[in-house]
Amino acid sequence: MLFSPCGLIGLAPMAGPGDSGFRKICREWGADYTVTEMISAKAVRFGSEKTISLARYSMEETPILIQLFGREPESMEYAAEFISNQFDPAGIDLNMGCPAPKIFNNGDGSALLKEPKLAAELVRSAVKGSCVPVSVKMRIGIDKPDDSLTDFARMIQDAGASFITIHGRTREQFYAGQADYDMIRRIKQAVSIPVIANGDVVDGPSAKRILDLTGADGIMLARGALGSPDVFKRIKQYLDCGEQTSISLEERFEVCLKQLQYTIEDKGEEKACIEFRKHMLWYLKGVIGASSYKVAAGRIASYNDCKNLIDQILLSQKH
Ligand SMILES: Cc1cc2nc3c(=O)[nH]c(=O)nc-3n(C[C@H](O)[C@H](O)[C@H](O)COP(=O)(O)O)c2cc1C
Repeated sequence: MLFSPCGLIGLAPMAGPGDSGFRKICREWGADYTVTEMISAKAVRFGSEKTISLARYSMEETPILIQLFGREPESMEYAAEFISNQFDPAGIDLNMGCPAPKIFNNGDGSALLKEPKLAAELVRSAVKGSCVPVSVKMRIGIDKPDDSLTDFARMIQDAGASFITIHGRTREQFYAGQADYDMIRRIKQAVSIPVIANGDVVDGPSAKRILDLTGADGIMLARGALGSPDVFKRIKQYLDCGEQTSISLEERFEVCLKQLQYTIEDKGEEKACIEFRKHMLWYLKGVIGASSYKVAAGRIASYNDCKNLIDQILLSQKH
């Protein structure tokens, strides 16, 4: 059956923290689908093993979309064909929102918002190559909310995109300031394909707010899940019955250890622990005296280091 994001809550793509272990734990806590970090279509075309390995995933992370970025229609067609055949994801998502200078200055990511014809051609090329549906993730403008993006979205739709995810910020905002839900609503009204709203969802009330204000068909969240994969469960509870219950600190740290275990299974203990240090800082948020544990969190080199630190923290919280 073809994947549809309608009525779903997805884990947004995150280059860096959004690795396999994190996607797996988020699915376990209620994310309805996940997205890989962005992968260069050009590097896939050149056969870069390192790049192609970013598309690997386990069944527990599915349904999953594999995200591609690039501005060359031929590379996009090749990469969409190669990746969809090789990995059989639920869909291929095209990145038209990344604000990072090295991406933007290359004409990739959010820079494509200035080039609607090329953006549409990229969608057509990906659709031509891919054996699974193609979607687009975009922002609401470059330096200010841009009304002409309603036309952009229609062009993306006419080129064959199956849905659009909109992060309600401009490129210049990066991740700061408030997301503009009204602009998401206007784009949603301009197209007939599903629109997924993204930006600043961190709990049940903020999830309800973005749905109410945008009229979107589903939501996607990124930073709100860092250190809190249970946010998906809380959101669903709140949307169902208007209430949400938080998990205890003990449970949160159990989730943390499970995520580390998944990451170790994927990357091996040494690499996993180094990369997990930043996740540990997110899990420390809200812990009394969190700053005094940061140095130890930054030195985690094994599963046992992490477990010992957690035991120490839990003991101190009881006093
Ligand atoms: C560390 C980090 C990496 C990100 N990497 C990607 C990416 O690879 N592709 C993409 O489309 N968006 C990426 N994003 C943007 C998020 O998917 C999302 O659109 C943005 O964070 C807003 O959602 P939020 O308010 O729920 O965090 C990234 C965000 C963060 C914080």
